[in-house]
Amino acid sequence: MRDIGKKPFEYGCVVKGDFFCPRPDVEKTLKRHMELGQNVVVVGERRMGKTSLIVSSFSKIKKARVIYVDLLNIRTISDFCDRVASAASRVGKGESFIHRTLSFLARLRPTLSVDPQNGMPVISVDARVAEEESSFDDVISMIGKFAEKERVIVVFDEFQDILKLDHPDRALAKLRSKIQFLSDTCFVFSGSVRRDMVSIFTDYASPFYKSAATLSVGEIDDGDFVDFLQKRFRVGNRTAPREFLLKVLDTANRVTGDVQQLCDAIWMESADGVVLSGGDLKNGIDRVLKQEGAAFEVQTRTLTRYQMKALSGIARFGGAHVFSAEFIGRAGLSSVPTAKRALDKLIELGILYLHDREYKIFNPFLREWMKRT
Ligand SMILES: Nc1ncnc2c1ncn2[C@@H]1O[C@H](COP(=O)(O)OP(=O)(O)OP(=O)(O)O)[C@@H](O)[C@H]1O
Ligand SMILES: [Mg+2]
Repeated sequence: MRDIGKKPFEYGCVVKGDFFCPRPDVEKTLKRHMELGQNVVVVGERRMGKTSLIVSSFSKIKKARVIYVDLLNIRTISDFCDRVASAASRVGKGESFIHRTLSFLARLRPTLSVDPQNGMPVISVDARVAEEESSFDDVISMIGKFAEKERVIVVFDEFQDILKLDHPDRALAKLRSKIQFLSDTCFVFSGSVRRDMVSIFTDYASPFYKSAATLSVGEIDDGDFVDFLQKRFRVGNRTAPREFLLKVLDTANRVTGDVQQLCDAIWMESADGVVLSGGDLKNGIDRVLKQEGAAFEVQTRTLTRYQMKALSGIARFGGAHVFSAEFIGRAGLSSVPTAKRALDKLIELGILYLHDREYKIFNPFLREWMKRT
């Protein structure tokens, strides 16, 4: 019998409260930056837990207004302004606050509507007016006006998408020139693509970067994570031995979100009251592969025969000795240059990465899927 009463794991969303595994060191550092008004760049791979960490940290700061701006997939300056305006409309309550915000943005011809999902007021700007670069001045000035009265924390999440604007260098220069005058306000720039985030600050905005602290969000400490996962499994009425959970962490490459997805699948597939073992892990992986298989099919459809062989070889035999005669033979690659070409392309496509001279597959579930195809 499956117990689907109390769902102990969440994935694919920001996690809070009992679903959030404390990461005391990074939380403490980030909270301190926020309190001191120190700008900070938060970097990490996808699904490592950047947004959840930021939300958890700012919710613990008393008396601060938080303007949380998600820049995912912005394309134009007016998109940027729109996201900031709608984020600002969420930070305060009451008519007078909304009226003040509308007046700060007056030049951008703001309009007020109601968010159909939660019934809350939302401000948006006129796309034709807001398309000029001077619009950055308006939205940053609005933040400055808020900051005159209280402590303000501004989070620009998915900040790397600023590179999707037509002239990202000009946009960044403009932002930088305005932001540097708001010395009491903490700006958090968070991004999921490490290389892009680093290049933004080194190639386009290095003076800006030097004044900001950097915080890397990587793996959660094994001990903390295992304790947390044991508790969560207990809530879901399963017993998860430590050794079992270490295998789960290995399987999911210690990517926080992937660990949660796998644990959810294990929980869904296992019997109520059981002590979890290898069979449950296998059933959990099968469940995830059923969920993700179609996406992997699409992702690998355009790969060449040799790219597929290289990928499958790494999934099966590991990526530490890919140029050895043994690997080339077992993987069915014809020569070292053929292997090199295939691997370079797989890196360019973001499917593989190199770590300590070992080729690794980014997505641990793609690795499991490749083992089975
Ligand atoms: N501290 C945590 N404790 C438990 N699970 C977490 C924690 N942080 C993240 N997760 C898991 O990872 C998932 C992704 O978290 P989050 O969205 O915060 O990561 P992210 O790094 O911002 O991801 P993205 O790169 O997609 O923006 C969550 O849904 C949750 O399953
Ligand atoms: Mg995020």
